Amino acid sequence: MGPVKNELKDLSVNTLMHDGENGTMFNGVYHELDVVIKFPGQGSTELEALQRMRGVPGILHPLVTGLWHSKTALVFPLAMGDLYGLSGAAQAEGLGAFRSMCEGIDEIHARGWLHRDIHPGNVLRVNNEWLLSDFGIARPMGKTSRDGSHGLLRFASLNQLKSVKENQEDDLYSLVLTLHFALTGKLPWKDLHGVTLFSRKQEIPPELSPRHRKILRQMGHGGAVSALSILSILSQ
Ligand SMILES: Nc1ncnc2c1ncn2[C@@H]1O[C@H](COP(=O)(O)OP(=O)(O)OP(=O)(O)O)[C@@H](O)[C@H]1O
Ligand SMILES: [Mg+2]
Repeated sequence: MGPVKNELKDLSVNTLMHDGENGTMFNGVYHELDVVIKFPGQGSTELEALQRMRGVPGILHPLVTGLWHSKTALVFPLAMGDLYGLSGAAQAEGLGAFRSMCEGIDEIHARGWLHRDIHPGNVLRVNNEWLLSDFGIARPMGKTSRDGSHGLLRFASLNQLKSVKENQEDDLYSLVLTLHFALTGKLPWKDLHGVTLFSRKQEIPPELSPRHRKILRQMGHGGAVSALSILSILSQ
């Protein structure tokens, strides 16, 4: 654990792919394998989060981490795409394809962490599996409300947006919306954008099916308590 010191030899960093809030990403090649290289921004906790998540199923782990020209680099396998781009494939497959990812989310929570940014752009297709990626704003539970970071507005809970102390139900809220998108291809809050998404008062998007709405209503009242229980309720 801790900062990386090994130099990454045999790594070619090629074109800029994404300039995100938590770092920059490039396409590249590592030992003849197509990869995506993420250089985390200043103060990013992504490396630590991924170190703590070692061995968790259903998440995208780096192939290797190390230094590239003195910068910390996380090297991931190149995914085929994300759930936005491949939502047709997800609808054809059904919910069973997300079982391992849900096990992973429960394990993240069992290790005392929150992902905080579960949405279709962070669910990637790698080797015929759906994996949860992007630990850019993951935090240990109980330490989440101070820096003002929050997940993608459309998929974040009101609790997270109001910076109330977060817990695993906030991740599960985002998971329910993400699984609804996977099943239907419909975005939650389709009529809201930007600031209206941020300042909304309603907790449950009108687009959700009755079953998805019921899970959200029951959260915190003895309802679904894990990602796997959500998956099994939705699969009945
Ligand atoms: N290994 C990968 N292979 C292919 N595409 C990827 C990979 N990792 C990420 N992407 C694509 O790049 C986008 C951004 O990646 P990621 O979410 O990890 O970065 P980020 O800096 O946190 O961005 P953002 O702030 O926009 O969430 C993803 O939504 C996904 O579409
Ligand atoms: Mg992301």
